[in-house]
Amino acid sequence: MKEVPLGILGSGKGTNCRAILESIRSGLVAAEVRVIISDVFDARILDIAREFSVPNAYLPPGKFHTRLEPKAEIELVRMLREAGVELVVLAGFMRVLKSPMLDAFPRRILNIHPSLLPKFPGLEAWKQALVTGESVTGCTVHYVDEKIDHGDIIAQCEVPILPNDTPESLHARIQMAEHELYPAAINEVCRKLPD
Ligand code: GAR
Repeated sequence: MKEVPLGILGSGKGTNCRAILESIRSGLVAAEVRVIISDVFDARILDIAREFSVPNAYLPPGKFHTRLEPKAEIELVRMLREAGVELVVLAGFMRVLKSPMLDAFPRRILNIHPSLLPKFPGLEAWKQALVTGESVTGCTVHYVDEKIDHGDIIAQCEVPILPNDTPESLHARIQMAEHELYPAAINEVCRKLPD
């Protein structure tokens, strides 16, 4: 089966990125990570890229906090195209993508979010679920569109909220589910892409 060329974008610790790289290494996902890019200079996801010998880069995001400056987003498209990327995987990338990326990779950008969307989009979704008094939350893999944590849902996994949960314990349990769900969902999407 063809190995789909992936580009991974992330802003933080990169545990989902590691789970994806490990799943590819053990043959569970038919893909190849061509490049890992971060908008945060010292993000741990870039250390993981180096550990797995994957080409990687820091992309200076520009002056905005919630999105890339247009010229940075155009540069991102250029970098991904130069690496031959056919599917873009957001793994804790904390900026909203706009038309340069959405037009360059239509229905070819995936995201994982730590809630059962459409519930609790946005930041620290596990805290939102905890303060609302839910008994179940989870994680969602979805196609990316122009809205925050929004787009057609590909896969979801439920995670129970336990009586003594803290935000940290709940997020850790959700992340364990993410590390199973995301590689499996990526593999399903890769299998269905045209050759
Ligand atoms: C993950 O929990 C992911 O679901 C979340 O950021 C974390 C990144 O962790 N993403 C969002 O909240 C997107 N709105 P990681 O860097 O360890 O993979």
